[in-house]
Amino acid sequence: MTHSQQICFVLNGQMARVDPTDTHQTLLQFLRAHPDLTGTKEGCAEGDCGACTIVIGQLDGAEVQYRALNACILLLAQVDGREVITVEGLQDKSGQLHPVQQALVDFHGSQCGFCTPGFVMSLYAHYRNQLPADRQSLKNTLAGNLCRCTGYGPILAAGQAMYGYEAPEQIDTVSLLREIQKQKPLQLDAPGIDPTQTEQLFAPTSEDELQDLMHAHPDAVLWAGGTDTGLWVTKRLSRLPCVILLHKIESLNFMRETPDGYHIGAMTRYSQLTQQITEKWPDFGEVIRRTGSTQIRNAGTLGGNIANGSPIGDMPPILISLGATLVLRKKGSDREIPIEDFFIEYSKQDLRAGEYVQAIKIPNSAAQSQFTSWKISKRFDQDISAVLGAFCLTRDRDKITDVRIAFGGMAAIPKRASACEKALLHTNGDATALAKATKALAEDFTPMADMRASDQYRMQVAQSLLHKALISDSPVYLGKSGGAA
Ligand SMILES: Cc1cc2nc3c(=O)[nH]c(=O)nc-3n(C[C@H](O)[C@H](O)[C@H](O)COP(=O)(O)OP(=O)(O)OC[C@H]3O[C@@H](n4cnc5c(N)ncnc54)[C@H](O)[C@@H]3O)c2cc1C
Ligand code: FES
Ligand code: FES
Repeated sequence: MTHSQQICFVLNGQMARVDPTDTHQTLLQFLRAHPDLTGTKEGCAEGDCGACTIVIGQLDGAEVQYRALNACILLLAQVDGREVITVEGLQDKSGQLHPVQQALVDFHGSQCGFCTPGFVMSLYAHYRNQLPADRQSLKNTLAGNLCRCTGYGPILAAGQAMYGYEAPEQIDTVSLLREIQKQKPLQLDAPGIDPTQTEQLFAPTSEDELQDLMHAHPDAVLWAGGTDTGLWVTKRLSRLPCVILLHKIESLNFMRETPDGYHIGAMTRYSQLTQQITEKWPDFGEVIRRTGSTQIRNAGTLGGNIANGSPIGDMPPILISLGATLVLRKKGSDREIPIEDFFIEYSKQDLRAGEYVQAIKIPNSAAQSQFTSWKISKRFDQDISAVLGAFCLTRDRDKITDVRIAFGGMAAIPKRASACEKALLHTNGDATALAKATKALAEDFTPMADMRASDQYRMQVAQSLLHKALISDSPVYLGKSGGAA
């Protein structure tokens, strides 16, 4: 099959065909080098500040779905086949500002102005998706946009007022996006920083293609949402000789409720998970809501969080506690393992040559249990956990018949608290059992100390969360049983 070396996308309503400078070029680098597109700013280049926020449109049947993303950690190649809207694309032909922009002007929502294009674009995505204009919804939308002049009050006021302006005419880009779908698949071969080395990038559209590519390029880096890998490029300045983008493989992006439980494709993004998960496990949903920011949740995937193997990733402890399994696939074979067995030691996961995370399964049994989880971090939004505790308890009347407790941030890998679980199993979780379980946590973990938290703090928090979980679950503490507390 022949491939295209050009990246094709709709840019502010016009078809764009771009020869990338190299396989690592980000969308932000492309925009900043374009004389008419410098409204999008670079603040941090690591997905934190939101100054680079743009909106991406993606064809979904007869409609286009819009989401805000950070252009700084988005490869230009990731927008192939998509629509890109930057702050320059919002005014109408007569020069009339978009309601979001006009509201920011009218409510004095811009001071030094550096962060403003990012706020405009986050609010624009909110507007396009017709999300509610109450303060909490707007705060969720804007949690990934920092304004160092602290103009948040006027910015929120502008957001609350934006639907009151006359609605602008939207450009219909469906036909352009359909046109792009007919393009040849993307493959880039470009000289690296060292011109004697060729760097390659592939964008397979099926798992068969992915498996063949992984076989042919065993050292290739899989690139899902790019919210971890993007920083390897922008912060570590790593050169990746071969990258395989996963976002065009539709069979990796799904969420199904089956008689056995939930079956979730590895490429399912946080923002696609939130609603269903929140309905089933509100605490799990709340952790997703606090994972990164809107822009990060619109890019980051469940599979990426797991495969990355970070000891402070938010999903693994929760999934361990819920008894989830991973489907690991390579050409011709699947294997399914409990997720806790995937994490072997720091930075070492049970992923064999040619294998990738295909899906995550959460068993139905977890739905019968009491699940609680808390993320402890310095900032409420857009912060990495110091400690995350996840607790899944099953009771037969007072008695705890099954218990799965896992923590992130307490060891070199996300890990079950086995001694603590043992101290609780077959007890009614009363004060004596809880005291033993609390002590047992010190057998389970020797937490690390770093800039997020000291080791003592981590242990104290873990013990407090254990108490909180037991108290919020227990008939003993809730006064529903005759047992001693
Ligand atoms: C500003 C910011 C805030 C963040 N906040 C949080 C937070 O609050 N909580 C949190 O847990 N994380 C956070 N992260 C980290 C990151 O967003 C998550 O880990 C995210 O889930 C990674 O998913 P991704 O799709 O972007 O993965 P990528 O960055 O694309 O990939 C991550 C790793 O997984 C591998 N990989 C990806 N998919 C697969 C697959 N299917 N099979 C095998 N290997 C695969 C990649 O090769 C790479 O090694 C944050 C990151 C940023 C930049
Ligand atoms: S430049 Fe800060 S999030 Fe992109
Ligand atoms: S207006 Fe100055 S940083 Fe936001």
